Amino acid sequence: MLTSAESLKPSKADKFAFGLWTVGWQARDPFGDATREPLSPFETLDRLSERGAWGVSFHDDDLVPFAADDAERRRIFDQWKSALEKTDMVTSMMTTNLFTHPVFKDGAFTSNDRDVRRLAIAKTRRNLDYAAEMNVPTYVLWGGREGSEMDVSKDVREALQRYKEGVDLLCQYIIDQGYDIRLAIEPKPNEPRGDILLPTVGHAIAFIDQLQYPDMVGLNPEVGHEQMAGLNYVHGIAQALWCGKLFHLDLNGQRGIKFDQDLVFGHGDLINAFYLVDLVENSGYDGPKHFDYKPMRTEDITGVWASASANMSMYLMLRERARAFRADPRVQEALKASGLLSLSQPTLAPGETIDDLTFSPADADRLAERGYAYVQLAQLGIEHLMGAR
Ligand code: GCO
Ligand code: MN
Ligand code: MN
Repeated sequence: MLTSAESLKPSKADKFAFGLWTVGWQARDPFGDATREPLSPFETLDRLSERGAWGVSFHDDDLVPFAADDAERRRIFDQWKSALEKTDMVTSMMTTNLFTHPVFKDGAFTSNDRDVRRLAIAKTRRNLDYAAEMNVPTYVLWGGREGSEMDVSKDVREALQRYKEGVDLLCQYIIDQGYDIRLAIEPKPNEPRGDILLPTVGHAIAFIDQLQYPDMVGLNPEVGHEQMAGLNYVHGIAQALWCGKLFHLDLNGQRGIKFDQDLVFGHGDLINAFYLVDLVENSGYDGPKHFDYKPMRTEDITGVWASASANMSMYLMLRERARAFRADPRVQEALKASGLLSLSQPTLAPGETIDDLTFSPADADRLAERGYAYVQLAQLGIEHLMGAR
């Protein structure tokens, strides 16, 4: 039975979280001015909490003005902590803004200017102290300005070495301070740079292997970012899970290979979103379901809050549909017919070696005869997604 969208209510147990910069986006774009007034982070806490969200994330500069002194920073963080308590919300993730100020125009940890690199690490370190104080378990590194437009302007091997140096230093600092924080790299292929370093989940996983403390560093993959590179987000998440690197998630929507749209979750590739929820729900992932979307430029403040609720509603509807899909005996039959259940069986039997494997053209011809019935299976999936079953 289909449940109506209205009756699927988000609860704290769902761990839905939003960045302050999402609902707070004033919709300034490269072609036009802001279409909305600034939103106070404290009002955001109230509005999100009453809608059933559980957590909020932010860049340092989303909460505290860039040029604030230590005393002002302290005062605002104290005010933030008491507002969290009042609204029964948590800070689920923190990160550093290393992209807005002009000083970061050639990057932060990988700027060609050594003094900029030093400043970027110091800005991150200062914010890590506040993250530790608030027991924030995950600290995201999104290197939007790390990259280039012209191949000649960046020595990528040296830049990666400096990237590693920066991340290693931060890990060492976390260890020395006794903080319980893990870092999560957020890949993105381009925008604002023409080509960003660590463009995809796969690149980031390979980078982590080169770090001094690889266990402390994982991923924060974003739906739209993988899709901007023409990649399959569900596959990326599955590989991150397979190597124990899914530390955090940025959920949103994207329609194909173009600029970063940051649509509401599910408002892009809905089928991919359906299988993503199916995967996440059955994976043991228990981190935040974090939405990194932008309320469209056309929306007024009522539309902003409606779009925040739409993200949570999309997730809940997809979760309900994914559960119905898994529980359907016809689906179980179709999974068996497709051979999916036998993929978990090791290719060699216990005691066998590679020498037990034989090749014969006759076997190949015989094995080629079977069909995999994937279309029937996919159709059942879409029928469930559409509420037609
Ligand atoms: C983007 C990114 C950012 C990051 C955020 C966290 O493409 O704009 O997704 O929204 O998630 O800066 O570091
Ligand atoms: Mn994005
Ligand atoms: Mn993001």
